[in-house]
Order: sequence, then structure tokens, then C-alpha cells
Amino acid sequence: MAAGKGTRMKSALPKVLHKAAGRTMLGQVLHEVRAAGVNDCVVVVGHGAEQVQASLQEDPNCRFARQMPQLGTGHCVQQALPQIPAATEAVLILCGDTPLLRAQTIQQMLQLYAASQQTAQPLAGLLLTTLLDNPFGYGRIVRNSSGSVTAIVEEKDASEQQKQIREINAGAYIFNYAALQSALGRLNNHNAQGEYYLTDVISLLAADGLRLDTLPAADPLETSGVNDRVQLAAAAAELYRRKAEELMLAGVTIINPASCCIELDVKVAEDVTIYPNCQLRGQTTIGSGTVLDSDCLITDSQIGRDCTITKSVLNQAAVGDRANIGPFAYLRPGARLAEDVKVGDFAELKNAQIGRGSKIPHLSYIGDAEVGENVNIGCGTITCNYDGVNKHLTKIGSNVFVGSNSNLVAPVEVQDDAFIAAGSTITREVHAGALAVERSPQREIANWNREKSPQALAKSSASRAKALAESSDSRAQALAKSSASRTGAKKL
Ligand code: UD1
Ligand code: MG
Repeated sequence: MAAGKGTRMKSALPKVLHKAAGRTMLGQVLHEVRAAGVNDCVVVVGHGAEQVQASLQEDPNCRFARQMPQLGTGHCVQQALPQIPAATEAVLILCGDTPLLRAQTIQQMLQLYAASQQTAQPLAGLLLTTLLDNPFGYGRIVRNSSGSVTAIVEEKDASEQQKQIREINAGAYIFNYAALQSALGRLNNHNAQGEYYLTDVISLLAADGLRLDTLPAADPLETSGVNDRVQLAAAAAELYRRKAEELMLAGVTIINPASCCIELDVKVAEDVTIYPNCQLRGQTTIGSGTVLDSDCLITDSQIGRDCTITKSVLNQAAVGDRANIGPFAYLRPGARLAEDVKVGDFAELKNAQIGRGSKIPHLSYIGDAEVGENVNIGCGTITCNYDGVNKHLTKIGSNVFVGSNSNLVAPVEVQDDAFIAAGSTITREVHAGALAVERSPQREIANWNREKSPQALAKSSASRAKALAESSDSRAQALAKSSASRTGAKKL
């Protein structure tokens, strides 16, 4: 069920597309469904249908049904029914806003339901429940004197006495197909919200004398539905906690797990060490032995083995083994480093391929570049890649030494073993093995006397003139101000 607007989110984005730990809530529910072995899903979309459908474009297990307008969860499932083959034995129904539900729990539900089908009294419905200290907002499970489930009552329809019930409906169900079909046909919207509630299927089936049962969730958190952003943050925190726990149990050292946010799709190998305040996002992978020193933000990047990355930002970058990055490096999309590369402080790389053993130790911008092996890029080097209209390539061969504070005006090529003198602005090809110097010759005037130099004299007379102008300026301003205040003008 993913058609609702999610009014309580107060958002232009459909609720089920809000993300927790890097996945949309709906994507996370479907991920667990697949992990539980269920491969044929009908996703009911309605509010923001195109957007929700587009988010699942690459999911071959999903078919879609439309619910327009959205008249409640019962109405939602009514729209899905035509998409489900009549020969189907049982239907698993889940909410798109319960991202903490685990595959194991879904499997447990499937097993319990399947086992009951072998008995004399097979289940017509099974629902996941839990006991909450604060059940506010959830449907309450109503039982008769013999303990059988007879109904679910929504918060807004519950009597004061029913509101005391701590057992809640998690919104996860398995129904016998025929029983579901028959009950859905009998729903009405005579309730506080004027909606067709799926939860009313329970009282209808109970009245039919069919067998219903509940599975208490092993972990009450799993049943949490996300209806507002406070609950979204709580769900995300739990998913991050689970991810960190899973990684630690798989051999990753995380110094302060609560301070790190490692998204669900990130892969981290054994013997990686992650210091506090690191955020790993998207499809990032980290090779074994790598140390992420504090404050790294790494998105959709592939990091090799035995690297050290300190206080740096990487986005769509690929980093070879044993690289040493940061502090304060910025690797942007298309930065591709071979093995043993160093990128130091305040170096920014974009669409740049850096060969094995090359070093960009400090204060550089290397964009749209191909750099060979064992190159030293001196402090302050800039590839001038943009002419205001187009981006151009800088090619640097292997074993090149680029002196500090050089500008490489692209398109330009520096061939193998070349040497660029510090402070040069290179605009033409530099040939293999050559030294390129581009500086105006240094002049020297002997016995320079600061006070008497023509420059100093010119400067002091200029500063005298400026001071004079400023003082007459401020006199003029003062005059204007006083006359303005006399005439009542508000602004000069
Ligand atoms: C629902 C249950 C409640 C349960 C809770 C668990 C009903 C009537 N109530 O309440 O018993 O405790 O979930 O989290 O079912 N949706 C549609 N179409 C609609 C309405 C909703 O597709 O017309 C989808 C929503 O997108 C959402 C899910 O159904 O993914 C649940 O809807 P929501 O409005 O969050 O129901 P709750 O009030 O949480
Ligand atoms: Mg909900």
C-alpha cells in the first residue's frame, strides 16, 4: 500500500518516497519482502503515482495498481485485487510506511500461515501485532473473552476503554485470497475518517466464523509506522544502528557507531576502521584495511584497500589501494586514483585520472585531467580547464614535476619526464624531458632606499591626496546630513 499522501509528513514528496538510511521507505519494505522470498508484488500507487512508480522502475518484481482517489487502506487493496491471479492461495499485505519490518518476520508470518493450512482449521487471516507502552495512533487489537481476535479499532474510532488496549496492529497481514475478496466487497466507510478501512476485514472474517490469529513481533520497533518526520528520524536512526551492528559483527571497527551514518547499500570489507562522524552514502564500497579517519563524507564512491582518508569529501570517486587522502581533500565526480596516490589538504579533483604513485599534496585544483604515474603536482597548481564556454583537457605524462603555483591552461599537454618551473603559466605543449619556465625575468635594483624611492614618494603624495579627498568628502557628507535632517529627508 503506497498510494496515500502522508498528510502528516507535510511534504510535496509522497510519504513512501521519504528516505531512511539511504533507501525510500517503500524501497526498504520491498527489499525485505524480496529477502523473505516473495517475488511477485503489486504496488498500489495513487498520490504522486508517477514519482512512486519511477522510483521502482528497475524492480522487475513489481507490478502496479492505481488508487484514485485514495479512500482508505481497504479501498487501496480493492484496487490491487484485479492484478492478483484468482488461483492465488494467500495474499501478503504490507504498508509502504513501515521500514523497520524485517525479512525474518515476514518469513515467520509466511511459515505460520502455511503451517496452519495443513491443519483442520486453517487460518483465513494472520496479522502482526505488538504491545506498545504508547499505542497512540495505531489500530488496537480487540479480542473476545476466549482471547480470539474479533476486530481492529482505529485510534479515531476507539472508545476510551479501547484506547487503553496496548496491543496494536502493525499493518502487516496475510489473508486467504477468497476470504479477503469476500470481505473487501463488504467494506463500508461508516467511521470517523469516512474511509474504507482494510482493518474492518478482520471483524467481517471473525463474524463469518473464520479463524484469525496474530504473530507477536519479536522486536516491537519493527512494527513502527512512519507518519511524520519525527517518526522518520527515529526509523532512520534504528536502520543506521542495525547497519553499524551488522558491519561490526562482520569485522569492521566503528569507534563511535552512534556518530556515524552508514547507509544500507554501502559495503564495507573486513578490518576497515571508521572513526567518528563519518557518513557513507549510496553505492559506496570500502576495501579491507582502509581507515576512514574522522569526518569523512563519502557518496557513491569505490575505495580500495589499505587507504587512509581523513576529514574529506568524496562524491562518485574511485580510489585505488593504499591511497592517502586528506585532510580536507575534495574528490568530485570522475576523480579516479590509481594505487599509492596522495591527495592532500585543500586539493580538489574533478573528472581527473591520476596514475600510480602520483602526489597532489596541497592546495590544487585538478579538473578534466589525465595525470600519469609518479607525478608531483606542486602546491597551488591549477588546471585552467574552463575558458568560459567549454571545458578542456590537461594531459600530464609520467614522472613529471610540476613546480608550485603553476597554471596549466587547457587544452595543454605536458609529456613524460618534463619539469615545470614554479610559478609558470603553461599554455603550450611541454615536450618529454624538457624544462618549461614561464616567468618574467627577475629585476634587481641595488641599494634600494625605501623612503627615497620614486615609488615611495609617489605613494606618499598619492596617499596625502587621498586623505585630503576623504576628509573633504566626510565634511561634504556631514553637511548633506545636517541639511537632510533639517528638511526631514529620510535618506541621503
Ligand atoms: C494503518 C492501520 C492501523 C495500523 C497502522 C500501522 C488502517 C485503517 N489502519 O494506519 O490499524 O496500526 O497502519 O502502521 O489500515 N494507503 C493507501 N491508500 C489509502 C490510504 C493509505 O495506499 O487510501 C497506504 C499509505 O500510503 C501507507 C499505508 O497505506 O503506506 C498506511 O496508511 P496510513 O495512512 O499511514 O495508515 P495509518 O493511519 O498509519
Ligand atoms: Mg501509517
